[in-house]
Amino acid sequence: MRFEAKVAVVTGGASGMGEATARRLAAEGAKVVVADRNIEAAESVALTIAAAGGIAVSQYTDVADPASVAKMVERAVSEFGRLDLAANVAGVAQAPTSLAETTLELWDRVHAVNDRGLFLCLQSEIPEMLKAGGGAIVNVSSLNGLRSFAQMTAYGSSKFGATSTTGTIAAEFAGRKIRVNGVAPGSIDTPMLATLPRETLDAFSATLPMKRLGTADEIANVIAFLLSDEASYVSGVMLPVDGGWLASS
Ligand SMILES: NC(=O)c1ccc[n+]([C@@H]2O[C@H](COP(=O)([O-])OP(=O)(O)OC[C@H]3O[C@@H](n4cnc5c(N)ncnc54)[C@H](O)[C@@H]3O)[C@@H](O)[C@H]2O)c1
Repeated sequence: MRFEAKVAVVTGGASGMGEATARRLAAEGAKVVVADRNIEAAESVALTIAAAGGIAVSQYTDVADPASVAKMVERAVSEFGRLDLAANVAGVAQAPTSLAETTLELWDRVHAVNDRGLFLCLQSEIPEMLKAGGGAIVNVSSLNGLRSFAQMTAYGSSKFGATSTTGTIAAEFAGRKIRVNGVAPGSIDTPMLATLPRETLDAFSATLPMKRLGTADEIANVIAFLLSDEASYVSGVMLPVDGGWLASS
């Protein structure tokens, strides 16, 4: 019960790594706001958490919209009285696209969520954490926020932005009891990858050092560690959780 009496928001909480994180935090005692623009799925996650004995509410949130992000944080405070923890997991992917074929619309859409959306979340979350006397935040970037891949112009730059923001904001708030860290997942078996044919995923998995994709729970485990007091002297890191991919590439 590492998060007993703590209040958490999880963006992207309706699916994949965000869902696994919301469940994990709730299972360890946190009161969780499951924030997602897919409100039906967010509500379903909140209900499942409640059915398992946890405490959670769902909140429609579009992280690209400042007013919506402000309402997410207001909901945490109106429902549970404070905000201690945030897992900023919401993100969108892109199909591999050559430079010539990368439209401005695609670039703007990916950045609106992965980079601008993260900035908006931090700007709303941190003032409430300061009021609560401190807090901990984990941002989900990507291995593509630590190394470059061909044909990922929009996604890669958005995730390098998330990596940079994580370090920058950690440095600003380290002296005010707010830790800010990140995880950089490799290839994780979530609905985000499910658009690819299973044979393609299997063939790709065989090229990875561990010969398999990661799971959403393996990411949630690390997010929970970084949010917990066990990581009390850890701030500003962007931790690859990639089965050894970065080290061997
Ligand atoms: N799956 C992977 O292999 C992988 C690898 C590296 C990084 N990531 C990153 O991990 C994070 C989680 O991805 P996932 O694999 O769990 O994907 P997912 O598609 O299962 O979940 C993403 C969630 O984010 C929500 N979302 C998208 N845009 C939003 C917005 N504007 N406002 C609020 N919610 C929004 C979606 O509705 C969805 O519920 C993302 O940031 C993604 O870029 C994923």
